[in-house]
Amino acid sequence: MEERLQKIIATAGVTSRRKAEQLILEGRVTVNGRGVNQLGSKDDPARDEIRVDGRPLARPGKRLYLLLNKPVGYVSTLSDPQGRPTVISLLRGIKERVYPVGRLDYHSSGLMLLTNDGELANVMMSRPSAVPRTYHVKLEGDPASEDLAKLERGIVLDGQRTAPCRIVRTGGRDRPWYEITLVEGRYHQVRRMFERIGQGVVKLKRVRIAFLTDQGLAPGQFRNLTASEVGRLKNWKAGQ
Ligand code: URA
Repeated sequence: MEERLQKIIATAGVTSRRKAEQLILEGRVTVNGRGVNQLGSKDDPARDEIRVDGRPLARPGKRLYLLLNKPVGYVSTLSDPQGRPTVISLLRGIKERVYPVGRLDYHSSGLMLLTNDGELANVMMSRPSAVPRTYHVKLEGDPASEDLAKLERGIVLDGQRTAPCRIVRTGGRDRPWYEITLVEGRYHQVRRMFERIGQGVVKLKRVRIAFLTDQGLAPGQFRNLTASEVGRLKNWKAGQ
């Protein structure tokens, strides 16, 4: 099926649609060996050979959208130099190559999306879409309310302020549990935020991504998203 060239490039996971337009205008895209440096070209990814900077796009196959409940003790990268098990090894029966959207660290558990649709990955990873992720966090101690308020307003991590977030105490006695909802996914963000106020994280679990929950998904299990769930995620607008 013919589609706009920038959409094909974005769907293949190379970059966002807007950046794909720039790549085209910069003359970095070829279709069947001929340079395309104007917008408006419509092509068929199943028929045409499209290259960006000389590298061919992956041919489109079946689009897969999986929601996995990752157990502790799995890495969320495609391979691990230390030989630890990867989340991909949990996807029994899935032959297509999918990749994780964002990371969930080895010692954390909970929800992860995996897909071979670059367009969805771009929506989920880009700041403006601000898809919320909710975590349950067990802390070593009980933080002061001023410290929690500081985290909620935002702190500087790696030279950049974190977006405002919401933190609610949900239970526990000696080791309290908190729920935190973030609209960004920076490296080890939850752990580093609590470390900043002197609190070690004992357990960390992602319990919600936008409207998706772990209902019916035991640790290690996964399911396909429905077409309507995929549509809702792709059209996610900040503040929903
Ligand atoms: N924040 C973390 O610290 N770790 C994760 O895996 C996800 C969010």
